[in-house]
Amino acid sequence: MSYTIIGTGSALPARSVTNDELSTFLDTSDEWISSRTGIRERRVCTTESLDELGESASRRALESAGIAPEDLDLIVCSSTTADHLMPAEACAVAERLGASCPAFDVSAACSGFVFALDVADGYLSRGRAKTALVLSAEKCSRIMNWEDRTTCVLFGDAAAAVVVRAGGESPLWCRLRTIPNVAAIDVPGVAGNSPFDQSVDSAPGSYMTMRGRSVYRFAVTEVTRELRQMSEQTGVPLDQVDHFVLHQANERIVDAVVERLGVDPSRVVLNLAHTGNVSSACIPLALDGMARKGELKPGELVALVGFGAGLDVASTLVRWEAEPKATPS
Ligand code: UT7
Repeated sequence: MSYTIIGTGSALPARSVTNDELSTFLDTSDEWISSRTGIRERRVCTTESLDELGESASRRALESAGIAPEDLDLIVCSSTTADHLMPAEACAVAERLGASCPAFDVSAACSGFVFALDVADGYLSRGRAKTALVLSAEKCSRIMNWEDRTTCVLFGDAAAAVVVRAGGESPLWCRLRTIPNVAAIDVPGVAGNSPFDQSVDSAPGSYMTMRGRSVYRFAVTEVTRELRQMSEQTGVPLDQVDHFVLHQANERIVDAVVERLGVDPSRVVLNLAHTGNVSSACIPLALDGMARKGELKPGELVALVGFGAGLDVASTLVRWEAEPKATPS
């Protein structure tokens, strides 16, 4: 029992790309993308750097928490699409914020926010930090092969963050799991120019490949299992969970989990229609949207479940304690 989420923030690039626009250069259609995934448009960086998006989301989260960058003891950023191979995205954001606390990244793909939150929880629980920024910043457009209709239509760019403070009821549950399967979703490292490197694990271009159907089956099975076990092991019946915020990869995945568990669909967040899959930023982006619409009330229970490359699945149950605020992001 170690933390309270005290603020949220998010930032999206200005440029929207609709399904119809994609169909001008790919063999695809709005009908295929929206019926198979629920996605209608996504935001894609044009002039924005990920550092800028990360800074904007972080400033909004700090503002909503009512704290200054110098009050931060820790910045953990989840990203697999950072502007720099090094330093960490968290360092670039810390520099822009004028923060001088430890800052590092967690690489756990689409599950990354829950992993990063758990890392921050460790620092708060051990008394090593009192206030932490947990940021997810993803420029998925960077790792897409824009000639591959099976992947590039699914993803978008975004950054979103929460501020967590030591003390409080959360998490009531947290579990991280990896069921290793690198080929399921893979982005090879970029090749350098070492005259000695004969390996095949780096490539001149570095684009995502995904075995969509097997990831789909993994997601439905494992997210359902996580929520069942969360309920069994915490003793909290699923009908007492006020909000389910699942990774937003595909509306059909969310629907299948809802159907298997028999939970009330009105308590399940779906926000991918206008942003697509923004990898680890999906969950904090949804939280920020809900918080700013006043949809999260003190005392409510919120289940968060991420899944993706690894293959990883990560779930946590938090008690919302921040006061509702209806403010635009
Ligand atoms: O966040 C990371 C985790 N990722 C995920 O959770 C993704 C999980 N997987 C999925 O969401 C779905 O499997 C996809 C959306 C990726 C694909 O949907 P699907 O219903 O599983 O389609 P499929 O892969 O079985 O493909 C069906 C057909 C194929 O054509 P044929 O072989 O039946 O002739 C594909 O080539 O749809 C074709 N197709 C497309 N057609 C039009 C694949 N992508 C497209 C496209 N537009 N963009």
